[in-house]
Amino acid sequence: MKLEKLLTPYRVRSFRTVIYAHYQLNRRKLPWRRTTDPYRILVSEIMLQQTQVDRVTEKYQQFIALFPDVVALGSAPLAEVLRAWQGLGYNRRAIALHNAAKFVTDERGGRIPDTAEALSTLPGVGRYTAAAVMAFAYNQPVVFVETNIRAVFIHFFFNDQDQVADKEILPLVERTLDRKEPRNWYNALMDYGTLLKKKHGNPAKKSAHYQKQSTFRGSDRQLRGQILKTVLDTGSMTEQQILKQLNSEQSRAVAILNKLIAEGFLVRKQRRIIPA
Ligand code: ADE
Repeated sequence: MKLEKLLTPYRVRSFRTVIYAHYQLNRRKLPWRRTTDPYRILVSEIMLQQTQVDRVTEKYQQFIALFPDVVALGSAPLAEVLRAWQGLGYNRRAIALHNAAKFVTDERGGRIPDTAEALSTLPGVGRYTAAAVMAFAYNQPVVFVETNIRAVFIHFFFNDQDQVADKEILPLVERTLDRKEPRNWYNALMDYGTLLKKKHGNPAKKSAHYQKQSTFRGSDRQLRGQILKTVLDTGSMTEQQILKQLNSEQSRAVAILNKLIAEGFLVRKQRRIIPA
């Protein structure tokens, strides 16, 4: 359907009213909503990239207590950062975030960039994360989608369609955006998306870009976390000692251990495995 038909001024107004009414009554009190510090917003968005809100909430607060600003993170050893990341999985994100913090500390006088373009040059920061920082930290009217936002637009505007592409959704995001209050608006959209998932199953499954979050328990990701934790806790272990601690098939554990070494999380030193 043509955008003009789909989005009459009346429809834009009522859409905004519904989204904001729900937000006023049911907004989630999330810890990263109490700040506009771009460093803290960046940490939260990188954590939220592949991990659900409930798991991120506690970890985010612990992480910020340990590394309250970008210089604290940029000057910390990687092993400490990985230790604080434990339980979130996808440790590559922690390495990228640490590298981003080192770059900002060493090369930019501790100032997080304030354009989407400059933000996206940081390690681990893609188009989505850069836009989210622009909205939540700098309150700028950028146009972006993630899974909760997709769910909202599919529910309201593409309910009879499968495989909805972001290309179709983005013009609607642009037309409906509250340009005076982008920060509030995107928070409200995300909360409404969460409500839809609870009520209707997840409308974002009809997105052409939908990716299910993999289950954690018993997964390679969990095993990676266990191996990393074991080595970080002791500081040094033999391969045999590590394998003995795990409740897993030997060849799978060895493959994952070797991958952690290849990716630079751990190193082999004289028959022992130690943190990088
Ligand atoms: N998912 C990604 N970013 C989020 C945010 N800022 N709040 C809630 N869920 C999110």
